[in-house]
Parts: sequence; C-alpha cells; structure tokens
Amino acid sequence: MNRIHLALMGLSVLLAGCERPPVDTVQRGYRGTGMEQVYNPRLLAEQAANNEAPAPLEPASPDGPKASQVYQNVQVLGNQSVAEFSRTMVAMTNWVAPKQGCVHCHNAANFADDSLYTKVVARRMLVMTQKINSDWKSHVAKTGVTCFTCHRGEPVPKEVWFQPLMPKGANDFAGNKAGQNAPADSVGLSSLPNDPFTPFLLGDENIRVAGTEALPAGNRQSTKQAEWTYGLMMHMSKSLGVNCTQCHNTRSLGSWENSSPPRLSAWHGIRMARELNLEHMVPLTSTFPANRLGPGGDVAKVNCATCHQGAHKPLYGAEMAKHHPELLMTAMPAATAASGVATVTPDDLKALETLPAAVTKPAAPG
Ligand code: HEC
Ligand code: HEC
Ligand code: HEC
Ligand code: HEC
Repeated sequence: MNRIHLALMGLSVLLAGCERPPVDTVQRGYRGTGMEQVYNPRLLAEQAANNEAPAPLEPASPDGPKASQVYQNVQVLGNQSVAEFSRTMVAMTNWVAPKQGCVHCHNAANFADDSLYTKVVARRMLVMTQKINSDWKSHVAKTGVTCFTCHRGEPVPKEVWFQPLMPKGANDFAGNKAGQNAPADSVGLSSLPNDPFTPFLLGDENIRVAGTEALPAGNRQSTKQAEWTYGLMMHMSKSLGVNCTQCHNTRSLGSWENSSPPRLSAWHGIRMARELNLEHMVPLTSTFPANRLGPGGDVAKVNCATCHQGAHKPLYGAEMAKHHPELLMTAMPAATAASGVATVTPDDLKALETLPAAVTKPAAPG
C-alpha cells in the first residue's frame, strides 16, 4: 500500500464523525450576510417521518347533559357534553397511553377515583395544555398544542430534563466545573455547561451577555456566563433542527434589528417553558412516585425539545389543537385550584438554590 492510500484511509477515519453529504443550503437573509440554513435532506426525511400528526377523531355532538351533571369527579372538562367528554378521553388515551388504555389513569372499578397518580397528573396536564393554548399565543400562535405534541403516544415524553447531580466536592478548591468539559447531549455534544436549563428555564437568570458600552466601563458579564448562554443556544438550535442563523445575524448576535422573526418567537418560548416548569411541573413533584423523579429528586421538566423534537415547529406546524376546542380555552376558573395540586411553595423552589454560583453571582468587575 502506498502513502496516498494510507492518507486516504486516514481521511475516511477522520470524516467518519461528520454527516454524510449531500447537504443543501437555503439563503435566509441578505446576500453576503451569511444568514443561511444548512440542511441534510436525508436527515430531514427521517425527521419528517418522526413528526407526523395522527388523523383527528370525528367530532362529537355537543347536545345532551354535561359531563359535570353525569359524572362525579369532573373538575376541568365539566362543560363538555357526555359525548364530547368521551371523545376527549379516547383522544387522551391515543396520545398518551395507547398501549396501556384507560387503566393507565383509571381504577377500572371506579372511574371517579383519583387514587392513581397518573390521573392527578393528567388533570393538571389538561389545565397546562389549556394555558399554553390560551395564554401563550405569542409563542404557539393558532397552531397550539395537544397532549400528543409532547407525548407522541408515550406516557413519558421522549425529551424531558432533570438536574444533574453535582459530583462530590464540586465546590471545593478545584472549582465548580458546571458540568463543563464533559461533552453532553444537552448542549449538542459541545463541552459547554451541560445544564443550561436550571438557570434559564427554571430560574430567570440573564441570558444577554454582549457588552453594550465601550470598554473599560463596558461589559460586566464573565466568560463563564457567556458559556451558559451558549449552552442554552446549542440546545435551542438542536431542538429546532436549525443553525444559529435561523434567529441571529452572526455579525451581532445581540442586536434585535439584525435578527429574524423566529428570534422573537424564541424569546417568548423561553418565558413559556419557564412558566410551564414553575407553575405546572414543579408543583407536581410530590404527586409523582420516586422512580419518576431525577437523581436529585426533582420532577421531569420541559425544554424546547419536549415539544419541538427536532422540528422548527412541532409536528411541522400541523394544527391538531383546533380539533379539540376543549384544549383551547381555560375552563372554569376554579379548575386550577381544584386540580388537587397546590401552587408553587417556597419548598418547591429549593431547586433554585442549587443554581451554580457562576450564574447567580455577577462577575467581579475588571
Ligand atoms: C391520560 C389519563 C387518562 C386516560 C388514559 C383516560 N382518562 Fe378518563 N379521566 C382522566 C382525568 C384526568 C379525568 C378527570 C377529568 C376532569 O377532572 O375534568 C377523567 C375522568 C373520566 C371519567 C369521569 C369519571 C367520574 O365519574 O368522575 C370517565 C367516565 C372517564 N374518565 C372515562 C375514561 C375512559 C373510558 C377512558 C379510556 C377510553 C379514559 N377515561 C382514559 C384521565 C384519563
Ligand atoms: C408541554 C409538554 C406536555 C404536554 C402538552 C402534555 N404533557 Fe403530560 N407530561 C409532560 C411531562 C414533562 C411529564 C413528566 C414525565 C414523567 O412522567 O416523568 C408528563 C407526564 C404525564 C403523565 C404521567 C405519566 C407517567 O406515566 O408518569 C400523564 C398521565 C400525562 N402527562 C398526561 C398528559 C395529558 C392527558 C396531556 C394533554 C391533556 C398532556 N400530558 C400534555 C409534558 C407534557
Ligand atoms: C430559535 C432562535 C435562536 C437560535 C436558533 C439561536 N438563538 Fe441565540 N438568542 C435567541 C434569543 C431569543 C436570545 C435572547 C434571549 C433573552 O434575552 O431572553 C438569544 C441570545 C443570544 C446571545 C446573547 C446576546 C446578547 O445580547 O448578549 C448569544 C451570544 C447567542 N444568542 C448566540 C447564539 C448562538 C451561538 C447560536 C447557535 C448555536 C444561537 N444563539 C442560536 C434566539 C436564538
Ligand atoms: C409547549 C410546546 C412548546 C415548547 C415547550 C416550545 N415551543 Fe416553540 N413552538 C411551539 C409551537 C406549537 C410553535 C408553532 C407556532 C406557529 O405555528 O407559529 C412553535 C414555534 C416556534 C418558533 C417559530 C418557528 C418558525 O419557523 O416560525 C420558534 C423559533 C420556537 N418555537 C422556538 C422555541 C424555543 C427556543 C423553545 C424553548 C425555549 C420553544 N420553542 C419551546 C411549541 C413549543
């Protein structure tokens, strides 16, 4: 074998980690600004197959007695007719527990019974879904979401996050590594801090890190803080299957005038995910059995990937929610209070105290 062969062999080994060509580029901004998206048609086809919405059920008659008159323990869907209510139960079963059926959430001997945690969680999920569709139109527009958006026919959504356990001695003289330099899936296999979720999708730490004034007075943000921001950005890009330039003009990442409209959607998305976690997921912590909680005892939480799963719009914008008006509006105002779950308590917020010091403490000037 000659040297050229050897070199070629070496090259093929080196390239094995890259995506197989061909790739397509689509221009998204002015010519010469580098605002383009790079797509791999093969991966796109795979993605599309994973993001198909199921066909809607036939509509049910709104006539006849209401669910609240017929059943004993209906706190959210009481205004539906019995036929509509049954249709919702069938849809929920298809979306969340098609293999397990009604008994995933119900005690078959008494459907009014709330003893299974899954039923209590599902009731809260109904309220959460209504809230997303009515209060967060700034993000979900009229596309909206259903249980399927996150669950995709599985009791546990494929993409959720837990807080990683801080290794022993994480805060000793070796410094808090923030889960860094250990390539993690959550940040696109980069070596950035691997839990960009706790500070930004549970806490409301500052994401903006670029200086807005000239040095030396200028920028008080640390490199470490910038790395946390980049970690979140890697997650956002990966969850949506897009490059940074879907939202930013890399000439100036911070400038809103140079950004494209999806960046504004993303801004609302960050606030929405935070609210879903704080107001709906965290209060469910004690409802879940221990085997459903993370290594540190925290509840599974939502990030961009929970809904998007690799698509720029979940299910590529399929409008499933419009076939389920019961999921579009917040029902009886008493529903949240009656859903068997208290609102956030200071105890629930314990989680926030574990915020890495690098994020909570402003960088020392100079
Ligand atoms: C993902 C969980 C889940 C699945 C699966 C599910 N249900 Fe339900 N079911 C609920 C929740 C939550 C309520 C209470 C709704 C409310 O408070 O508005 C409920 C309430 C009911 C009630 C009212 C009982 C009463 O007297 O209060 C009936 C009847 C019912 N479901 C039937 C079914 C049937 C039949 C199936 C299977 C086709 C099914 N459910 C599947 C979660 C589920
Ligand atoms: C924004 C995403 C999202 C939406 C929308 C959503 N869920 Fe969930 N759901 C979650 C997350 C996250 C969990 C926690 C995962 C776990 O169980 O560990 C969960 C858990 C559950 C569980 C407990 C499953 C188990 O076996 O532990 C049930 C039941 C459930 N959801 C029902 C529903 C129903 C019914 C709807 C629609 C009315 C719905 N969900 C809508 C994200 C969502
Ligand atoms: C889906 C849209 C979207 C994508 C994709 C995206 N970003 Fe962002 N980016 C945002 C939003 C929104 C903010 C502002 C967040 C806030 O202020 O709450 C932001 C903020 C930033 C900031 C801070 C800007 C400042 O003012 O200091 C940097 C740096 C950044 N992004 C870099 C990147 C990089 C690098 C990538 C690719 C790995 C990327 N972004 C991908 C939406 C996006
Ligand atoms: C509860 C589900 C859900 C979550 C969580 C979620 N999104 Fe979305 N997102 C949607 C839906 C639904 C749409 C489609 C809205 C439409 O049709 O305009 C959307 C649209 C978008 C768009 C506009 C896409 C386009 O091409 O116009 C961006 C950007 C986006 N989301 C970013 C994010 C980011 C970043 C996060 C995490 C911080 C996030 N989303 C979390 C449901 C979600």
